[in-house]
Amino acid sequence: MLETNYLVIGSGVAGLTFAVKIAETFPDRKVVIITKDSEDESNTKYAQGGMAVVLNKEEDSFKKHIEDTLIAGDGLCDEAVVKMVVKEGPQRLQELIEWGANFDEDGDGNLDLGKEGGHSEYRIVHHKDLTGAEIERTLIKRVHQLPNITLLAHHFAIDLVTNHHVKSGNKDNLLCYGAYVLNERTGDIFTIKANATLLASGGIGVVYGHTTNPIIATGDGIAMAYRAKARIKDMEFVQFHPTALYQRKGESAFLISEAVRGFGAYLRNRKGKRFMLDYDDRAELASRDIVSQSIDAEMKKAGDSHVFLDCTHLDIDGFKAHFPTIYNKCLSLHIDVEKDWIPVVPASHYLCGGIEVDKHGKTTLENLFACGECSKTGLHGANRLASNSLLEALVYAHNIYKYHVENDYKELDVDIPEWNDDGTTIPEEHILIRHSLKSLQALMRNYVGIVRSNKRLKRAIQHLDLIYKEVEDLYRESKITASLCELRNMINVAHLIIGQSLERKENKGGYFNKDNAKK
Ligand code: FAD
Ligand code: SIN
Repeated sequence: MLETNYLVIGSGVAGLTFAVKIAETFPDRKVVIITKDSEDESNTKYAQGGMAVVLNKEEDSFKKHIEDTLIAGDGLCDEAVVKMVVKEGPQRLQELIEWGANFDEDGDGNLDLGKEGGHSEYRIVHHKDLTGAEIERTLIKRVHQLPNITLLAHHFAIDLVTNHHVKSGNKDNLLCYGAYVLNERTGDIFTIKANATLLASGGIGVVYGHTTNPIIATGDGIAMAYRAKARIKDMEFVQFHPTALYQRKGESAFLISEAVRGFGAYLRNRKGKRFMLDYDDRAELASRDIVSQSIDAEMKKAGDSHVFLDCTHLDIDGFKAHFPTIYNKCLSLHIDVEKDWIPVVPASHYLCGGIEVDKHGKTTLENLFACGECSKTGLHGANRLASNSLLEALVYAHNIYKYHVENDYKELDVDIPEWNDDGTTIPEEHILIRHSLKSLQALMRNYVGIVRSNKRLKRAIQHLDLIYKEVEDLYRESKITASLCELRNMINVAHLIIGQSLERKENKGGYFNKDNAKK
């Protein structure tokens, strides 16, 4: 057993920011970060467009950013949270810069500000089209400078330890004592006991297969919290990014940043029509839910598998300077952005809901906090405004840190039993895991996509039930592997998305059910 003051599950922007802050303030306290892949693998690393922050006070204002966020969220944002997050943006950005993050400047020594869908002003701070990688690099470097942080890569959190596991624990209110963790290199499972645990485990894109997210995004933290009986909300609001690069083969979808539309690119159908003008006055820069739903409608009308992003009228040198990764990725597929339209299709991108937290990042379990994409703070409502996610993670990591500065953590006097895997054997049939995963992803794409219906959702539940039973049997009989746990977690996540979709009787933001009243 490993004992620590703070256990952080996840090494994206949320987990790393909290770890750095708390370790800097309390050099005598221990922080353990576990992360299931290499230390920098995360959704954060792939963030392209940037971070929304109000800097140019002549044209922009907090009021405008707040309004844009509320409009995108379609009436379901928590206004107090929106105000708090937007107003803290400049301070949190400044901290990142002080830690060494570089953001692009305009010719006059000010930060260069981009624009994206749903934003009424230029306010997206960026590092070319590699903003997330720059933030991740900065935070990892800072983590390694702090001797009281231990970062354990290739360590997989299997389940939270709660008072249901411990003998002497108080059974009245739900409480978290840390986590059971698999060392993926050795196969050993051990307990990390912590005075406070932070879930910073990111998103769920892989549940759909076709996603802009890397393969780590399997919703583990949300599933663990759900099994531990924490409150999970707004799972029906899965955001589909309008413009993932269309490729005939392969599921992981390379993102063509929304900032490209902010730079002036047009969406066209196969016949060349600039169709967004028919759907919204803001055309290509309407909010993400509207653009994705419009593309979906356009593809269904024509029976097409994708639409196109036309950049041929844009300043190509400017394009290359702003989006070198996108330019080169397209070129590697023989798409010359200067002459060719880029084939694009919506792909699952972001979860607006998740583990419910208050303004201090506290979940409904004592000693358990959640931050970043796995959490539901009230900022996004029914649809996240582009580039508000990195901002939210930074602001909440700070709030959770502040809570710990102002409140002492609880001493734990408990006896945690070791993980028991008696009677289990090494799973021989990895193919079963793979088949179940493929079935799960197909059912989520076919029945729980951009446009849903009650019939499809009910069919999804029936199919999911079969997969659930097969996988639970496998889980009971098998020695734990990360891929088996991920599959089980994704089944929990799918169950939450489908169940909460059926509960929603009104279409809002990113949620559209044909059987509900029109928006
Ligand atoms: P992540 O960065 O995903 O980190 C989660 C961490 O948890 C990972 O280290 C993972 O390995 C670890 N983990 C998960 N499960 C376990 C487990 N069981 N055990 C141990 N470790 C575990 N947002 C913006 O604001 N602006 C953008 O421009 C932008 N562009 C994006 C582009 C792409 C392609 C993608 C995919 C997302 C983009 N987003 C953007 C969204 C944003 O990047 C994410 O929402 C945000 O980075 C999430 O940060 P996080 O720290 O919550 O999670
Ligand atoms: C993008 O660059 O289009 C992604 C922005 C985001 O998800 O906020």
